Amino acid sequence: MKPSDAVARILGERQGNLPRGGAVATAFAPSNIALCKYWGKRNVRLNLPVTASLSVGLREYGSKISLSLQEGPADRVELNGQPVLPGSAFYRRFAGFLNLFRVKSEKGAWPVFAGIHMNLPVGAGLASSACGFAALIQALNQWLDWQLDETALSILARFGSGSACRSLWPGFVEWQAGVREDGMDSHGIPLEVVWPDLCIGLLVLSAAEKPVSSREAMLRTVETSRLYQQWPARVAQDLEKIRQAIWEKDFVLLGETAEVNAMMMHATMRAAQPPVDYALASTAAAIEKIRRLRAEGLLLYFTQDAGPNLKLLYCRQDRPIVEAHFPAVVTVLPFAG
Ligand code: PMV
Repeated sequence: MKPSDAVARILGERQGNLPRGGAVATAFAPSNIALCKYWGKRNVRLNLPVTASLSVGLREYGSKISLSLQEGPADRVELNGQPVLPGSAFYRRFAGFLNLFRVKSEKGAWPVFAGIHMNLPVGAGLASSACGFAALIQALNQWLDWQLDETALSILARFGSGSACRSLWPGFVEWQAGVREDGMDSHGIPLEVVWPDLCIGLLVLSAAEKPVSSREAMLRTVETSRLYQQWPARVAQDLEKIRQAIWEKDFVLLGETAEVNAMMMHATMRAAQPPVDYALASTAAAIEKIRRLRAEGLLLYFTQDAGPNLKLLYCRQDRPIVEAHFPAVVTVLPFAG
């Protein structure tokens, strides 16, 4: 099955809907940080994961997107006020996703102007593609009057980027792997639980584009890393612990498990051929500092995605101490306010 077949199945006759002329559709989606990672696909075309994963949304940090009709033959995209070049990877990925929803006979019949605003560094392992595709699918839902529920939108967002299926909701979201070949059971599910004292600290060490995409790194790991065989069993254990930590508000269990899970994911990719290593010297130095502060009694943990930046985990009462030790950190309270 191809993504376009799955789209046709979900949209049915609505696939022929045209944008509401003149109208602008706007949607926002938060970025999400996985506490138990998604790493490896069982179906590359449909972005179906080998395992489940679990994330927390970054509330006000994410992507806002406005869509309107574009005069002329081609889509026009702006990111934070700057034109995105038509030949760029970003543009092609964006237009390729839109083409899934422009039925064949009318492909290109409604070129789009998309104004995207992201308040996170793009392509630096801060889940900018996740919030980008989640916002885009919600804007399309309004603009094309699909009236789909969040579960269906989560499945559609998954075709843009796997982790986008977790950005449809704020707070904790589990992406259930599903077992179906068509992927209709592989989507996000929000957890009805809040944790007002939980802090996520964004520690941006480099905002440069990552040298290897997560897509490529994941493929290479699954195909060549001898450590990957151990990954699914690891995730099953870690997910169990993270769920328990969330329900019991056990911060140490959450921090320890999320940190080990991230380190294991990076170990699988460093064992790939050729190896993938996203860490910079500054990443290693920050990790050492976190470990030293923890040895001195501070409850501070970290997680790392497909990039050199770290996301720190701490509780609200320790926020001033963490910010004093890491002046560049941006604290996000996913559940407060
Ligand atoms: O959704 P993708 O293809 O950008 O992959 C995301 C992979 C990680 O961020 C490393 C892990 C995750 O679960 O978000």
